[in-house]
Amino acid sequence: MSFYNRHFLDFSKTTKADIYFLFDKLPSSHLVKAKVQQKSDISKSVGLLFLENSTRTKISFELASHDCGYNPVSFDEETSSLKKGESILDTLLTLQAMGVSAFVIRHGSALSLKELSTQIQIPIINAGEGVSGHPTQALLDAYTILKSQGTIENQKVLIIGDVKNSRVAQSNLELLTLLGAEVSYCGPQELLPENNQQRFKTLKEGMEWATVLMALRPQLERHSGDSFAKIRNDFVKDYGLNSQNLSSWKKDGVILHPGPYIREQEITSDVLNDSRCRIFDQVQNGRLIRRTLLALILGDL
Ligand code: NCD
Repeated sequence: MSFYNRHFLDFSKTTKADIYFLFDKLPSSHLVKAKVQQKSDISKSVGLLFLENSTRTKISFELASHDCGYNPVSFDEETSSLKKGESILDTLLTLQAMGVSAFVIRHGSALSLKELSTQIQIPIINAGEGVSGHPTQALLDAYTILKSQGTIENQKVLIIGDVKNSRVAQSNLELLTLLGAEVSYCGPQELLPENNQQRFKTLKEGMEWATVLMALRPQLERHSGDSFAKIRNDFVKDYGLNSQNLSSWKKDGVILHPGPYIREQEITSDVLNDSRCRIFDQVQNGRLIRRTLLALILGDL
């Protein structure tokens, strides 16, 4: 599969070779802007539709667009005609008619990007869809593992916490498995998905197995009523990463978190300062991955 002029919604049509092709293009992605500016005076526009909150993904796509010489157009739901009852499809058709070259879309769950993508001619990039997937986050997580461990193959990745409600966990399961890593879960039973994936009852057992720890934020917005409040204390006590449980963990292990992290809940401040913690590498790699992906999809790399 080539990325050019394609939607990027999940990993269903992606091969291992496609992923390494993209990773190999990262170092030359800083050359895109000059090439783009040489080709045309009119810059391509990228429509950013974030219908759910975001800091890292939205701003890194904005910066990534600038990096490539594209013009990011941020759609503000609150002041848009969505509030007058216009549908998302009609919004996208309108922006497409204005000449936007690609869409980056995040939304809660009320629409299906797959369905929309059959009616839109320009590429759509999934920037987080309900609990079903967040593929560019998984790409940057995999790349961070590759850079810190030298290989993704045979890494043992333990996803900890509210796995059931995490689109990051879902996309990482798909991608890391494709790239030859093993993935297991650890967390309160009610926060783990019902599938056949290996899981550990205790964090201690999981950490003994793992070479990579991926902590997740409790997805409060996806819990009904006070269902999380009931398990919060046990969650932090039994599954939170802190200096005590990390003191005896592998010196060459890696700690990841997609963010936003909630200090002193799933991760303590001292873990954020631990030399094995790669959270800010993840953020940095996010901008690189997204500019490379945008440039490949728009045919400039
Ligand atoms: C995640 C998201 O929004 O899906 N964050 C991110 O994109 N970096 C995870 C989360 O919200 O917990």
